[in-house]
Amino acid sequence: MKRTLYEVMRLKRICQMIAATCLGSFILVIFYFQIIQRNPFMIDSCRKGSRKALQELYNPAQMELSGSADLHQARRDQLWNVCQMYNASSHRRQVLTPGDLKHLVVDEDHELIYCYVPKVACTNWKRIMMVLTGRGKYSNPMEIPSNEAHLSSNLKTMNQYSIAEINHRLKNYLKFLFVREPFERLISAYRNKFTLKYNSSFHKRFGTRIVRRYRKNATDDALLNGDDVKFKEFAEYLVDPATQREGQLNEHWETVHQLCHPCHIHYDLVGKYETLEEDANYILRLVGVGDYLHFPSYTKSTRTTDAMTAKFFSNISSKQQIQLYQLYKFDFLLFNYSTPSYIQMD
Ligand SMILES: *[C@@H]1O[C@H](CO)[C@@H](O)[C@H](O)[C@H]1NC(C)=O
Ligand SMILES: *[C@@H]1O[C@H](CO)[C@@H](O)[C@H](O)[C@H]1NC(C)=O
Ligand SMILES: *[C@@H]1O[C@H](CO)[C@@H](O)[C@H](O)[C@H]1NC(C)=O
Ligand SMILES: *[C@@H]1O[C@H](CO)[C@@H](O)[C@H](O)[C@H]1NC(C)=O
Ligand SMILES: *[C@@H]1O[C@H](CO)[C@@H](O)[C@H](O)[C@H]1NC(C)=O
Repeated sequence: MKRTLYEVMRLKRICQMIAATCLGSFILVIFYFQIIQRNPFMIDSCRKGSRKALQELYNPAQMELSGSADLHQARRDQLWNVCQMYNASSHRRQVLTPGDLKHLVVDEDHELIYCYVPKVACTNWKRIMMVLTGRGKYSNPMEIPSNEAHLSSNLKTMNQYSIAEINHRLKNYLKFLFVREPFERLISAYRNKFTLKYNSSFHKRFGTRIVRRYRKNATDDALLNGDDVKFKEFAEYLVDPATQREGQLNEHWETVHQLCHPCHIHYDLVGKYETLEEDANYILRLVGVGDYLHFPSYTKSTRTTDAMTAKFFSNISSKQQIQLYQLYKFDFLLFNYSTPSYIQMD
């Protein structure tokens, strides 16, 4: 008897959860249509107090940085045109769920949203976000150890808010992301996760699986450690339909399109890795902290370059090159990167 009662309670709980989820999706549908129907850049731009950064961005006449404002307008237009051309703002999934927003880092104090893309200076941006949200706890971003910057508990992400709070923030905060040439980002991820020996967690999680699936005559050692994955094998793994069926790719090689949903969320600023410091400091000035907070200069000598990327791609077949291009094509188009010259489209 007791047991049945427990079962009933459990069923009731499940029903409540389903109802809540459905309601949540419904509200997100509404929020989606709101975003699409209103131009988020024009909305009541005179409200007092808030959205200083947005106001400055969309009133470039008041700023000496109007050249940068024009550049970012051109990037937004380009992005939006591609979204429309490919019906991307309506195709596939029309509705975002809070789970889709876990890469959006929120800074309530400065009304700022940063969508982080791994391998695009994201550690330094997380450090900056920690300084911005730390209320004086940190002053120098470089004093924050990188492993601390990646602790999820140190920054608040959008999926932790209620639907109403999400809608409000998406509508009123300054939203930005940083992108990078897609293949350079991919090679950077490959080098970082598969060719370095110091951290074996990716070798175990992905390396062993890749060796098992794509290497004939793999040694027992390779099968056990997965620490010598060739780029060719990694490429095979990426374009394998079985990989697609397993769900989202790991964030280090997932497309920006899938991580940040730039056709659904209208980012105010698209920063580029190629002009990292310039774009980053422009954003910090817009936010009003440019006087005392600067983006850390990048001097990493191991940085993945275009020439290095070309070398890795020269090692895989033309067919694989084209398959990889297809996989990342949308990122190339959305962010105006031209097809690399080393790709053999024959
Ligand atoms: C896109 O790229 C082309 C060629 O590199 C360049 O001429 C153009 O200004 C870029 N457009 C935007 C909006 O960045
Ligand atoms: C985009 O949508 C329009 C109207 O809904 C349709 O006519 C067109 O074929 C679509 N284009 C693509 C590339 O799917
Ligand atoms: C290895 O990487 C994982 C995931 O990125 C991280 O949680 C772990 O702390 C790292 N270990 C070392 C020794 O760096
Ligand atoms: C695998 O090993 C067998 C036996 O040692 C050998 O005959 C065969 O050529 C190897 N295949 C590959 C792809 O290396
Ligand atoms: C290209 O492939 C060869 C043979 O497998 C390998 O020795 C070399 O390290 C590879 N180069 C790159 C850049 O992947």
